[in-house]
Amino acid sequence: MHFFKYRGEELYAEDVPLSKIAKRFGTPVYVYSRKTIERHYKTYRDSFKYIDHLLCFAVKANSNPVILKLLARLGAGADIVSGGELYLALKIGMDPQKIVYTGVGKTEEEIAFALNSDILMFNIESEEELRQIDIIAKKLKKKARIGLRVNPEVDAKTHPYISTGLKKYKFGIPIEEALELYLFAKRLKNVEIIGVHSHIGSQITVTEPFIQSLSNILRLTENLKRVGIDIKYLDIGGGLGIRYKDEEPPLPSQLSMELKKLLLGRNVKIILEPGRSIIGNAGILIGKVLYIKKAHKNFIITDTGMNDLVRPTLYQAYHQILPVVKSRLTRTVFGDLVGPICESGDYIAKDRSLPALKRGDYFAVMSAGAYGFSMSSNYNARPRAAEVLVDGKKATLIRKRESYDDLIRNCIL
Ligand code: LLP
Repeated sequence: MHFFKYRGEELYAEDVPLSKIAKRFGTPVYVYSRKTIERHYKTYRDSFKYIDHLLCFAVKANSNPVILKLLARLGAGADIVSGGELYLALKIGMDPQKIVYTGVGKTEEEIAFALNSDILMFNIESEEELRQIDIIAKKLKKKARIGLRVNPEVDAKTHPYISTGLKKYKFGIPIEEALELYLFAKRLKNVEIIGVHSHIGSQITVTEPFIQSLSNILRLTENLKRVGIDIKYLDIGGGLGIRYKDEEPPLPSQLSMELKKLLLGRNVKIILEPGRSIIGNAGILIGKVLYIKKAHKNFIITDTGMNDLVRPTLYQAYHQILPVVKSRLTRTVFGDLVGPICESGDYIAKDRSLPALKRGDYFAVMSAGAYGFSMSSNYNARPRAAEVLVDGKKATLIRKRESYDDLIRNCIL
């Protein structure tokens, strides 16, 4: 559910025509709908109200500080994976007690930063990391609150690049080794065990892997209890999919209902780490057609490509293309919608039926709010796009388009 809809011929973000945004701020530009973000957040909150829970937004999906602040004001915490994400979360005033820190490669500096910031919990991904955190906590005279990221050996049935819950991937501690590592952690003086974490992948469109994963994790917590380790926080990760094309992913309410049977009556606080299902459909990317080229196939050449949105070429991801003015929807052409980057893999849509756009037309790349801007780059020395937040009739620039000067800001000439 989102608030990007046609009114007559014109595609709107809430109450603002997108053509107006494109003209005012230029293209490429990411546009987000505040109402959609809030709705998604509240849907999660209401769906899980049967149990004590904390929603930690996965900052990697979209790290714009204004969006983070909006979510923080609604009550969200943050799931972070780097010192940079911690910095952003703290900068916007996020309560450190709502921050959980996951990731296989935390550096000493990042660990110290997180300890000094008094975050809620480290989700530990290896034995060496656990030892390191204990050493650093001792040096800083702190106690590190930890959970182990456990790999529940569940196939999330999603794209292999965004699947994480199996042994063959670099993430987490294999579930059969978890008990032993917990016992080891229990002996460390500078860590306090408070949680268990698992995240099995992203863009998951069925509930079954979540249920399977939670069941396996709950079995582990019961075994932990038997050896005197009491788990207060059960972090079940993110990963709920969204509709890009014709997927029918479960809604948060469906997921929560299915998990309810397993969770009710347990004396734990649930942590959820959704990214995509909060922000994915709450953002779009607007580009402009530069040229139409008819070679052996039709190419719609545009000002936005893999530098702004890498998902199509990296994961063969589908993003719907809509004309900003609908009359262009009546005719379609078959071909590729490509960007200006010097790579054959630079496309937004490939071998597809597309609106018959013309030079100068604006178009919207739908469902681009998650892993869009946050994965964008300066490849081909292209400044990064602008970002705009729409709230009702108001469109506000929340990140300026980068300038050429930005391209050399850190260079020593
Ligand atoms: N928690 C952890 C530990 C994660 O690794 C992730 C995503 C999330 C939460 C949030 O997952 P979500 O709810 O957004 O599915 N770049 C890829 C997605 C990579 C996901 C990485 N981890 C894409 O564009 O599809």
